[in-house]
Formats: sequence, C-alpha cells, structure tokens
Amino acid sequence: MAKIVLISGSLRRDSVNTAAVATARRLLEQDSHETGTLTVGELPFYHFDVEEADSSAAVREARALVASADAVVISTPSYNGEAPGVLKNALDWLSRPYGRSALSGKTVALLSASPGPRGGADAQPALREVLRRSGAALVEHEPVAIGNAVELRGQDGEFTDPEVLAVLQSLLKATVVAVAAQA
Ligand code: FNR
Repeated sequence: MAKIVLISGSLRRDSVNTAAVATARRLLEQDSHETGTLTVGELPFYHFDVEEADSSAAVREARALVASADAVVISTPSYNGEAPGVLKNALDWLSRPYGRSALSGKTVALLSASPGPRGGADAQPALREVLRRSGAALVEHEPVAIGNAVELRGQDGEFTDPEVLAVLQSLLKATVVAVAAQA
C-alpha cells in the first residue's frame, strides 16, 4: 500500500478543490492506502533567510511529510490561468534547499476543479512546469479538470457524481501504478 499526501491549492472553506482532495482521500483509504494532508496556508511566504536558518517548523513539517510519501496528489484552482500563489509558494518551499527538493523523483498527480465549465484546466500547464523543475515525476494521465464543480459536489462536501468519481479513480490508479513502477 502507498502513502499519498494530498494538497488543495485553495484556502476557501467551500473550496471545490478541497472537496476534490477529500474525495480522493476517501477513495484511497477505501483501497487501504495511507493518506496525509499538506495545508498550504500554514506555510509562511518563501524567504531565503528563513530557509537558510531552517527556522520555520511548518516548512520542516511540510518537507518531512512530502519526503515520507510515495506520491502527492494536487488539486488546483485557476486564478487568471495559473495556480494560486499560495500553492506556488508551497511548491517553492518544497523545492528547496537547492539540490535537495522534497519533490525530487516524487510521483505527483495533478488535477484541477472550478465552478466554470473548463474546470481550471488552464492552470495546469504552468503548474506542471513548476513541478517538473522541482524534480517531480508527473503521473502520465490525460488532464483531469472537474468543471461545473459546485453543481457536481454532494451535500457532504465530497464529489458523488459517477463520472467525477470514475475520472478520479482513474488518476489515482495511475498514481499507484507509477509508485509501484518506481519501487
Ligand atoms: C478566479 N476564478 C477563475 N476561474 C477560472 O475558471 N478561470 C480563471 O482564470 C479564474 N480566475 C480567478 C482569479 C482569481 C483571483 C480568483 C479569486 C478566482 C474563479 C475560481 O475558479 C473559483 O473562485 C473557484 O471556486 C476557486 O476554487 P476553489 O476555491 O473552489 O477550490
């Protein structure tokens, strides 16, 4: 079984991306995988002096959490065609110190969600490039972008729509297969 860390790129209480990672967590735990959560809003703004002094416990914990995982699953909103700064900030922290990225060689699956019809897909290319430069091994899968996500979300804050569940299952299966291939 794999250990998989889930990251939502949104801080919003009713976030559809947080709903997507909550759904992914449930699907993974149903299959007996271990999960963890990295809350990007708990990290300070990236600051070289803080990095050099290793003075942020939140950053140390985030790095250790990701380092301990077999894979990471990220769900991002699109803010003007890119991932929110708070998610980019977290990935910048994980990529440091130079040469010791916690994402180096890490299996990473990416998806996006939005209330609009395109599901925030336009945020994915730039985020893939950030992940690639951070050393991540991106899961090969057709882009997963959950459109009209507010309508598709169930009352309990998770997705119950069969098509959404099928595409999430497919991405998670590809993630677990990629982890197994690396072992
Ligand atoms: C947005 N939103 C948005 N949506 C989209 O599909 N394309 C876009 O370019 C943008 N741009 C954008 C910029 C900024 C600054 C904000 C705050 C929002 C809307 C966005 O998709 C919506 O707020 C989602 O609900 C955000 O995801 P969460 O928070 O529900 O996960």
